[in-house]
Amino acid sequence: MENIKDYLSRIVGDALSEAADIAGSDPNVITASRPEFGDYQANGVMAVAGRCCRKPRELAEAVIAGLRDEEDLVASAEVAGPGFINIKLRDQALIARGNGVLHDPLSLIPPDSQPRKIVVDHSSPNLAKEMHVGHLRGTVIGDCLSRVLERLGHEVIRQNHVGDWGTQFGMLISYMQDLGEDSSDLQTELEDLETFYRAAKDKFDSDSAFADRARLSVVKLQGGDPEYLSAWQRFIDESSRHCQEIYGRLDVGLTLADLDAESRYNDDLEGIVRELEEKGLLQESDGARCVFLPEFKGKDGEPLPVIVQKSDGGYLYSTTDLAAVRMRSFDFKADRSLYVVDARQSLHFQQVFAVAQAAGMASAEISLEHIAYGTIMGKDGRPYKTRSGDSVKLADLLDEAVTRAFELVSGKNPDLDEDERRLIAENVGITSVKYADLSKNRMSDYVFDWSTMLSFEGNTAPYLLYACTRIKSLLRKQGDDCSVNELTELTQPEERALLLKALQLPEIVEIVARECYPNLLCNYLYELSGAFMRFYEACPVLKAEPRIRNTRLALASLTEQALKQGLDLLGINTLERM
Ligand code: ARG
Repeated sequence: MENIKDYLSRIVGDALSEAADIAGSDPNVITASRPEFGDYQANGVMAVAGRCCRKPRELAEAVIAGLRDEEDLVASAEVAGPGFINIKLRDQALIARGNGVLHDPLSLIPPDSQPRKIVVDHSSPNLAKEMHVGHLRGTVIGDCLSRVLERLGHEVIRQNHVGDWGTQFGMLISYMQDLGEDSSDLQTELEDLETFYRAAKDKFDSDSAFADRARLSVVKLQGGDPEYLSAWQRFIDESSRHCQEIYGRLDVGLTLADLDAESRYNDDLEGIVRELEEKGLLQESDGARCVFLPEFKGKDGEPLPVIVQKSDGGYLYSTTDLAAVRMRSFDFKADRSLYVVDARQSLHFQQVFAVAQAAGMASAEISLEHIAYGTIMGKDGRPYKTRSGDSVKLADLLDEAVTRAFELVSGKNPDLDEDERRLIAENVGITSVKYADLSKNRMSDYVFDWSTMLSFEGNTAPYLLYACTRIKSLLRKQGDDCSVNELTELTQPEERALLLKALQLPEIVEIVARECYPNLLCNYLYELSGAFMRFYEACPVLKAEPRIRNTRLALASLTEQALKQGLDLLGINTLERM
């Protein structure tokens, strides 16, 4: 079933198009900005009135008179102010929708009527090093968007565009060779990729003979020497295994099958450069081969090049991304390609998208979207680091989260046995980190703060998980005699507010799918829990007379569904107890 907002947009839109005699007029329906405006409001009449030279209020009247409300959802529609339409919904219609969901919980979020093929490029760490805190956002935001899009019935192609090629790997291969490829030393050192990388780098910086060998390794590797390729492969396998471990703990859906490593495109790069040349887009600048597009200028107004091949013949990050755009466009035939990548790469993506479009490497259909995100900061206002100034390994961060969550859970519920508290802490710790991230507007930087994310108060994972356990425990107490699970009548405003809120989940999900802001879903879930708390305070449930009690239990059950399904889209599992 169409969600309420879509339904109203359609019927008000039809009436508006008819009254104004302008097909496809946008009624601009939104949830009411204030309760006294009703439940929804249509703000689009004034603009349309301007276009057809009518008096806005008069046009609004005509729209209301022409409404064809098949579902009988609208209790009243009134003209307000200069030509807004305030809409109030009928209780019985809300009840009918609520019962529909109780009957078939998955119908709460119906599939999109136009399923698309959508690439979600996310996580995408550099495999030379271990995953660190900087990879958290791309990983969890991308996972959430993938879940949302999948839930709406789109075909999602996850792509983990890992960096697995380039000069660093020469250094790592040489370092592996020096340790002895079969030695147990190598195996232990590879356990900690960060230390391994640093040791190799130190040697590279301090030992010029080693640095020369490392540079030779790159040449051998890129020339396809089997010995070097196999050392490289061993390193890549080890590093990918590290990533999979993190993905497992974070409960994100990325698998090895989603790898879209840079090396995948090695054989395409020469062709990409040739194609740019054939299209007349290539210019030489200091020996490097570049594309200059008029829309990209530096600070001083000088044209800004997109370099696709260095003077030594090497290809660049941009060249690979052009090949990837081409694959996503013409092999995958995707309708959208989302790049969930740090905001600091925004110029890179603007350039890649522009060059791809100019060169016909992007199809006419594909929408290329950089889903940018800001930096995780420390309390000192700089990117979050360890005390010694190193980047924080994601594995360590998650360990610490679980340790801290164990304290939190033990404080809240000391009577649970330890094993259960440990299990709960694993969930609460990791979901708190994820939720803290997802609940921030992705465009802003945010300060990483253990005490706010691991708090039972405010817009946090513990708060929401706890709200769910309270509802579940209420539902467990209802006993068998009244497991009717049906709404009949609404007697209190808090009941109505809760019902309407729960039914609005699909509207939010739709916006998240379109605009890619998971924080909107988090805000919604937080508001929904708030609506439940207000209802629970105002309306006795188990002590109410049977008819009312049934409706209230059904409302609790509907809320639980909305919370659970919403959290699931964030990649968060609810708990029975905590
Ligand atoms: N590996 C890159 C990095 O660490 C991110 C890749 C993002 N995806 C892409 N298609 N460029 O910065």
